Amino acid sequence: MLAAGKGTLSGLGRKETCSDVRRESFANNVFQIYVGTGKQLLSVQCDKKHIMLNATISTSKRGSALNGFDTSAMTASAVMLMLAIYPDIQEKARREAEEVLGDRDASLEDINRLIYLEAVTKETLRLFGPPLFLRKIKGDVPLDNCTLVEGCTTVVFVYDIHKSTKFWDSPDDFMPERFIGTTLKHRYCYLPFSSGPRNCPGQRFANMSMRLLLANVLRNYKLTTHVTDWSQVKMKLDVLQTPVDGYPIKLEPLR
Ligand code: HEM
Repeated sequence: MLAAGKGTLSGLGRKETCSDVRRESFANNVFQIYVGTGKQLLSVQCDKKHIMLNATISTSKRGSALNGFDTSAMTASAVMLMLAIYPDIQEKARREAEEVLGDRDASLEDINRLIYLEAVTKETLRLFGPPLFLRKIKGDVPLDNCTLVEGCTTVVFVYDIHKSTKFWDSPDDFMPERFIGTTLKHRYCYLPFSSGPRNCPGQRFANMSMRLLLANVLRNYKLTTHVTDWSQVKMKLDVLQTPVDGYPIKLEPLR
């Protein structure tokens, strides 16, 4: 339901952070996001039928960054599916979006105040995030019962870590509240953006753009689906964990 477009942009580098979010036109619901260079990175456009992410990317980072837009689009779609499945959570997120944003354009501060929506997105990424990533071991790493030897490749099985009862209470339940006012049971038990020197440089941008998009969808549309519990969603392993049957969501204008 979300589509990535194409174009050109230079200056998307690891050290740059999103500097600005502008709502281009209230009437058209167009949002544009800029990186440190001040160049446009992403626009999000909603009308009564479509939501379109439009990305502008440099040649050097095109592969990685397009993956980034795909992952953001898939995650935002997964959040909308979860909100459609759980109307109470949707209503709470909508109330927050209305309280924080009212009828006006969103500022960066506003996006940071969407605490509940952030928790909903985090919880969705726990369940729909990347299933695994690989790392080559640079020096021997002694563990309790074995040693990972230099040169071998390890699989960090995020899927398992995100569902382990060692780190999560009722891990199969969709509970955004688990991310509000609590600390993680382990520093590395939540890895939707990986961790360490090769973690995701687009993390902050992804979180902000998704929250902006979702808050505006919630202010304008009611989300419904025929799915009644997220355990009914059959998943396949892709870059992220992805529903086999796509995202069966209906958007009904609120007014
Ligand atoms: C919800 C959205 C996103 C998720 C879940 C996500 C997740 C990840 C993960 C897990 C990695 C590490 C992969 C590995 O180690 O094998 C990664 C790397 C990367 N991500 Fe993201 N990402 C997202 C959005 C973005 C966005 C929006 C951008 C760009 C604006 C981006 C750019 C990158 C780049 C360039 C890398 C490679 C970093 C490196 O190898 O040093 N990502 N991402």
